[in-house]
Amino acid sequence: MEHKKLKAFPKNFLWGSASAAYQVEGAHDEEGKGLSVWDKFVRIPGKTFQGTTGDIAVDHYHRYKEDVALMAEMGLKSYRFSIAWTRIFPEGRGEINRKGLQFYVDLVDELLAHDIEPMVTLYHWDLPQALEDEYRGWESRRIIEDFVNYAETLFTAFKGKVKYWVSLNEQNIFTQHGWILATHPPGKVDMKLFYQVNHHANLANAAVINKFHDMAMPGKIGPSFAYTPNYAIDANPLNVLAAENAEEMLAHFWMDVYCYGEYPIAGLNYLKENDLMFESEAHDFELLKSAQPDFLGINYYQTAANAWNPREGGVTLGKMNTTGVKGSGGEQGIPGLYKRVTNPSVERTNWDWEIDPVGLRIALRRITSRYRIPVMITENGLGEYDKLESGKVHDTYRINYLEAHVKAIKEAMTDGVQVIGYHTWSYTDLLSWLNGYQKRYGFVYVDQDERMEGSLKRIPKDSYYWYKNLIENNGDFL
Ligand code: BG6
Repeated sequence: MEHKKLKAFPKNFLWGSASAAYQVEGAHDEEGKGLSVWDKFVRIPGKTFQGTTGDIAVDHYHRYKEDVALMAEMGLKSYRFSIAWTRIFPEGRGEINRKGLQFYVDLVDELLAHDIEPMVTLYHWDLPQALEDEYRGWESRRIIEDFVNYAETLFTAFKGKVKYWVSLNEQNIFTQHGWILATHPPGKVDMKLFYQVNHHANLANAAVINKFHDMAMPGKIGPSFAYTPNYAIDANPLNVLAAENAEEMLAHFWMDVYCYGEYPIAGLNYLKENDLMFESEAHDFELLKSAQPDFLGINYYQTAANAWNPREGGVTLGKMNTTGVKGSGGEQGIPGLYKRVTNPSVERTNWDWEIDPVGLRIALRRITSRYRIPVMITENGLGEYDKLESGKVHDTYRINYLEAHVKAIKEAMTDGVQVIGYHTWSYTDLLSWLNGYQKRYGFVYVDQDERMEGSLKRIPKDSYYWYKNLIENNGDFL
């Protein structure tokens, strides 16, 4: 629908930005921190772009005051960051590492002193290596107890101070890369295990949400899901069915569990028919049903167009573009379900991610229709090559991208969607898990590169001043 007039953003709308511990902190072995699966994985030759590691990253661990000062000057309302489990429990459980916890206490205090709402992600992929060694991490149900124990420690430490919590970041992505594509730890290709791991992660997520509510924590908690809405490439009914299949297997399969505590029917039947069904225990489904997130976190970057993909001779998993050379990724799909094809109606980034602001409105509308839950946009942004020219970065392409997406949110809110806040990815430039420093997202440029010898100087880009202005006006000029 086209609106006569768009609704204004509410006064308390959380204009935010985000990061993740491994991608910004550095200090990977300082002050008692244990090693995570990422600390180990990046050392396997060929796994990351030009062998980059997060050993130094952008040194946020030592420079957080400077980073928060820049946030304050920008007028940022909310900062989403993740806590490294291995700083709190170097071995995954046991004695608390007080120095590690203190870093986050200081960061939270610094944010609050500048009127910035801290939003904590409990898990952004850096599992303690000790738990991987002991019982293979997410592959074992033992992870549930350890994750709850870790979360409870943080809930206790930050009760009353941190009001917004994200339980798991992009469960769909870390499990897909970890157990199907072998591009994230533990680097396996095992579809059945993928679903088993997801069942464990769903249980852990539900248990942590229940713990939060049992502790009467003031605030809200929810998972962050990487939602890529699926379209059909055209109105051929088979292509429409392929898009339905993709939506079922790539979106409902997670969001239904988070919001309804149930797996979707066709998705579950597909697993049973294809010998992919996970093992479960008697009370699992009660646990999933009992947990109710306060919001659904959405990381939105792109949409996907789908076409029919026959069971016999269909397209399988292809190569991802991690080079920044447009068109270098391959076709991808699951025979008998769907294949992802090029959508001629949208532009793409150099990493072949569709640029589709309308898709964000569609995402928000679909979520509202199906789940009727408030949404927190926990990530949205443009990864591009940025050039530092005479001490400035003129990232007009990023401003255009973000502005169009914020406008789409405003339209969706006028449609009736409830959105609590908007967090761009990312605040400063940071290490991309698989793309090094060539693919940048930040409002603040950081002098760091693949040799990891940069001066680490912070330089606000043009987009920094654009966001400052947007926040000052509460999005009124859109
Ligand atoms: C999200 C993750 O998937 O996308 C972030 O939560 C990540 O951690 C971001 O950095 C962008 O991905 P990439 O591969 O472009 O760095």
